[in-house]
Amino acid sequence: MGTVVVYWSGSGNTQALAEAVSGGVKAAGGSCDIFAADKISAAKAAAYDKLLLGCPAMGAEELEGDIFEPFYGALEKLIKGKTVGLFGSYGWGGGEWMEIWQKRAEAFGINVAAVLPVNESENGTEDAIAFGKKFA
Ligand SMILES: Cc1cc2nc3c(=O)[nH]c(=O)nc-3n(C[C@H](O)[C@H](O)[C@H](O)COP(=O)(O)O)c2cc1C
Repeated sequence: MGTVVVYWSGSGNTQALAEAVSGGVKAAGGSCDIFAADKISAAKAAAYDKLLLGCPAMGAEELEGDIFEPFYGALEKLIKGKTVGLFGSYGWGGGEWMEIWQKRAEAFGINVAAVLPVNESENGTEDAIAFGKKFA
């Protein structure tokens, strides 16, 4: 069923990465659907072959709590053995949230093929396109 990008973004940085990642997958010839996390259920997302998941560092090095965490918490139980890429924007934490997220995914038996943490001071568009192309 191809690749899906699902993201949450409060101030737009991770959304911009999500759009670039999706564009990269398509540029590499893959099919790719893109949804904000409140627009797709975990079960529907889990039906895709490969998933690209985007969420910025929130809380204290955590995933965003109201929408993305409930979505991801349901999803992680459904995608054991599947391949994912994780991406998102962060501020002052040095990318620690992404290390925590990757370890959490791997503990669920999810194959984390690639991660892309992008500092909020950077324009990550080119890196995100390359990330999507490579993932495809
Ligand atoms: C409530 C809140 C909590 C945050 N917590 C962290 C954090 O723990 N570590 C960090 O590196 N950045 C943190 N940030 C910074 C965001 O990750 C950063 O601004 C990011 O670019 C936001 O992405 P977005 O535009 O996709 O919402 C936080 C920002 C907000 C608003």
